[in-house]
Amino acid sequence: MEHRTFVSLAERDTRLTEIMDDPSCDAGRLRRTLQGFDAVNRAVSSWGRVYRTHIRPALEAASRSTSGSAPHLRILDVGCGGGDVLRRIVRMAARDGYAVQGVGIDPDPRAIAVARNARRVPGVEYRECFSSELVAAGEGFDVVVSNHLLHHLSEPEFHGLLADSEALASRLAVHSDIARGRLAYAAFAVGAVPVSAGTLLRVDGLRSIRRSYTRSELSHVLPPRWRAEQVNRFRLLAVHRPDQEGVELRGER
Ligand SMILES: C[S@@+](CC[C@H](N)C(=O)[O-])C[C@H]1O[C@@H](n2cnc3c(N)ncnc32)[C@H](O)[C@@H]1O
Repeated sequence: MEHRTFVSLAERDTRLTEIMDDPSCDAGRLRRTLQGFDAVNRAVSSWGRVYRTHIRPALEAASRSTSGSAPHLRILDVGCGGGDVLRRIVRMAARDGYAVQGVGIDPDPRAIAVARNARRVPGVEYRECFSSELVAAGEGFDVVVSNHLLHHLSEPEFHGLLADSEALASRLAVHSDIARGRLAYAAFAVGAVPVSAGTLLRVDGLRSIRRSYTRSELSHVLPPRWRAEQVNRFRLLAVHRPDQEGVELRGER
């Protein structure tokens, strides 16, 4: 059992794979896991705060720059899983008066099926595809987000995601993930018990923490146009703001 052996969190454990990534894993457990992400994400992911500090200002800037009748602002969630993070962001944006279209993508058809069966939110749709396919199709978004995706990815996939995000996002790309640490591991090992029965939430969650970055590791692997930000002790962001590139480069000289 994962929680009984000594677990070193000194380095990312990229040899670990998550059970949910196995195409032959138990379908019922996977479905309940994807549905259970809603509760877990509300508890740990801080999207309310990231919406206020990052996404709302980007939507405001985008809506100011578009003249005429209220434009539809576009938000993309890459690796959306069951889609709860995207639905929450779109609901927050709608409450603030923005007309928003949300697109959630995931290459796993099992995730897209769960997202499509969840409670419908107007303006939100889900597609089974990779971000590279949206780039190839010439799509564009005001804001690109992801949640709990970075730690899943191999090095080429990680850099592919960032390059795709730069190509797709005109205002903001913000990828949110766990900050690896002993307290996060211990707190999740205990806190996930009540919600994890019949799911992969606890076992995959603990593996996710072991695969995740620290802030300094994330800073080292991000390309120059990206910043690693720490929301709180448990949460990291990889942030790219296309419209501030010139400002940042001038400030760094
Ligand atoms: C831990 S789940 C997170 C799901 C959701 N974002 C959430 O926070 O609840 C990771 C998701 O990333 C998807 N994924 C894995 N590799 C991917 C890739 N290269 N591009 C996009 N999504 C990917 C998986 O299918 C899975 O649904």
